Amino acid sequence: MKSTPSSALKPMRIKDVAIDSPFVLAPLAGVSDSPFRQLAREQGAAAVYTEMVSSEGLIRGNQATMDYIAFEPHERPIGIQLFGSDPAVMADATRVLSDLPADKRPDIIDINMGCPVRKVVTRNAGAALLQNVSLIEQIVSRMSAVTDIPVTAKIRLGWDGESRNVVEVSKALEGAGAAAVAIHARTRAEKFEGHAHWDMIGEAKRAVGIPVIGNGDVRTPEDAIRMLETTGCDGVMLGRAAFGDPWVFKRMRALLERGEVLALPTASERLEAGVRHLGMLVRSAGEHVAAKEMRKHVAWYIKGLPNSHRVRNQVNTTRSAAEMVDLLQAYLGELEANGLEAFTPEPSEAPLGGMRASG
Ligand SMILES: Cc1cc2nc3c(=O)[nH]c(=O)nc-3n(C[C@H](O)[C@H](O)[C@H](O)COP(=O)(O)O)c2cc1C
Repeated sequence: MKSTPSSALKPMRIKDVAIDSPFVLAPLAGVSDSPFRQLAREQGAAAVYTEMVSSEGLIRGNQATMDYIAFEPHERPIGIQLFGSDPAVMADATRVLSDLPADKRPDIIDINMGCPVRKVVTRNAGAALLQNVSLIEQIVSRMSAVTDIPVTAKIRLGWDGESRNVVEVSKALEGAGAAAVAIHARTRAEKFEGHAHWDMIGEAKRAVGIPVIGNGDVRTPEDAIRMLETTGCDGVMLGRAAFGDPWVFKRMRALLERGEVLALPTASERLEAGVRHLGMLVRSAGEHVAAKEMRKHVAWYIKGLPNSHRVRNQVNTTRSAAEMVDLLQAYLGELEANGLEAFTPEPSEAPLGGMRASG
């Protein structure tokens, strides 16, 4: 199916890092693991981010933190996202990342300035930083001074409705040396509720010269193009719309580049991706972690397929990755027996939902 191409594909540059389309995968705690990032890159995400990792954990060489920052070469360009609030610690963590061997060094170091959860904001990190613009400036300038890797930030519109300082923060970031800013168009007080206020992404874009990446409530290729056109932003960051649907990036590129509307992934493509994701996770994180972490991914891959509720409940009681693979293969066999392997679930009209979201 064809529709009119709305905008030319405009590559984005974050300092020296070329990003070949506007559509990037968001940092997502508990979700943007290495296998999922690889699937997203394969399907056209132009850049990916690790989930947020603790700057203190990084300088202590904490094993879990080191596992979170590991990636495969074909995930590049990749950003490692740090959280923290102490400029000295953030600079030390930046040095740790800069001193990694070339194959482990990230392309971008991003700072989390949007996480709304209490555990993070009570330590003045995440969205709490938005209340202290001079601290933001100190963190970014100290980090930029110790590395040649571009330092970027992911922010929200402000702390609450009375303090929507996104324009001031974006300018402060640019002034302190940040190479780009990603904006989740909600305040901390809004968490994941209501609608994202895209107009404020446009206000920030008009105020700074660095690339601005818009984020919040983009679920379809049409949404993504509308965000680019109405705000003038350089990139679009996707979180929840990519859950169980790494193909969404390919659909966005096709619409933007060629005005083409691609078909949604079929039941068999979804189940095969689930099995591959699981296999990759077993190799990168081990059998135990993979079996646990895959439950949510599988629930997203099978969402909307016939009898998916039953299969989700079964998956949630599996104890090993092998058992999970058997279940998914049996499910595919069942769908094939009923001529449903090419079934595509209708896209849900429901809001993307809050989840126990952390960022
Ligand atoms: C499960 C979950 C985990 C998240 N983890 C992070 C994170 O580690 N760092 C971050 O900056 N934002 C995080 N976020 C926020 C997302 O990156 C994104 O800003 C938000 O989901 C809005 O975009 P969306 O509407 O495309 O999902 C998380 C969101 C969710 C739902």
